[in-house]
Amino acid sequence: MSIKINFNGKIQEGAEISALDHGFLFGDSVYEVVCTFNNQLCFADKHLKRLRNSASGIQLKVPYSDERFMREIVRTVAVAENEESYVRIVVTRGVGEIDIDPSSCERPNVLIYVTPVKPYPSTYYEDGIDVALVTVKRNAREALNPGIKTGNYLNNVLAKMEANRLGAKDALMLNPWGYLTECTTSNFFFARDGVLMTPSLDCGILAGITREIVIQLARENGFVVEEGQWPQEELEKADEAFVTGTVKRVLPVTQLDNRPIGDGKPGPMTRKLMRLYEGLLQGLHGKVEQLQK
Ligand SMILES: Cc1ncc(COP(=O)(O)O)c(C=O)c1O
Repeated sequence: MSIKINFNGKIQEGAEISALDHGFLFGDSVYEVVCTFNNQLCFADKHLKRLRNSASGIQLKVPYSDERFMREIVRTVAVAENEESYVRIVVTRGVGEIDIDPSSCERPNVLIYVTPVKPYPSTYYEDGIDVALVTVKRNAREALNPGIKTGNYLNNVLAKMEANRLGAKDALMLNPWGYLTECTTSNFFFARDGVLMTPSLDCGILAGITREIVIQLARENGFVVEEGQWPQEELEKADEAFVTGTVKRVLPVTQLDNRPIGDGKPGPMTRKLMRLYEGLLQGLHGKVEQLQK
């Protein structure tokens, strides 16, 4: 895979980061993923805002202004010359002593990884994917708050491994109180009797940017959307389900724990929202940051 990494402003093929960086030692870092569509960055402003929120959630000082981030991202994407790019922005606590205390870390490191976007197979969108409700729980908000996008994803790594063992494409997690939360790298929606339902932020989930946009699109197009706390039993009566994320966009979920959801095909609300989201991306053309080659 071709990869360009902008390491503190220097673009290179790979990056050697110190083994003493607390991002590596303790997962003490924050990150964001932005994608291009028609070679334009999508929702970069929202991602940079969330990066700053995440950083303030772990009291990490971000060394770049938004303007500097945009300059470095645009420059790295231009050098990469991909048809469409996946951009991963990481800010680590930096190099320090081998000690959990971050006060020895003097300077955060900023990395911007740019690789070609790896789209999911089209069959996933045509047929939907299967998801497993796993035993691994999503962190409580009072622990490592899932609303903060840190480099410590071990909770979700374990959930994904459980899903792999169960032969499912992704894992759906409950919070410690038994309410539905989200999947390992996406937010979860289900529909019942024509109402679109999604776990509320207070369940302990990432405030997904695609989630927010899909909720807005749904409401603008006359769907009733409810955000709330629901136990897994609510899914037994679901007619359809889907997940949302920057790379996945809107991806239908047609099986849960090897049982079909509704008729086992992507449902009409899901298909409509897939179309609306694609239309929105197409409509961004010329309205978002142009990448100069
Ligand atoms: C745990 C988790 N939930 C939800 C999402 C979806 O967020 P977004 O739509 O902002 O990509 C992600 C994306 O990486 C994630 O890691």
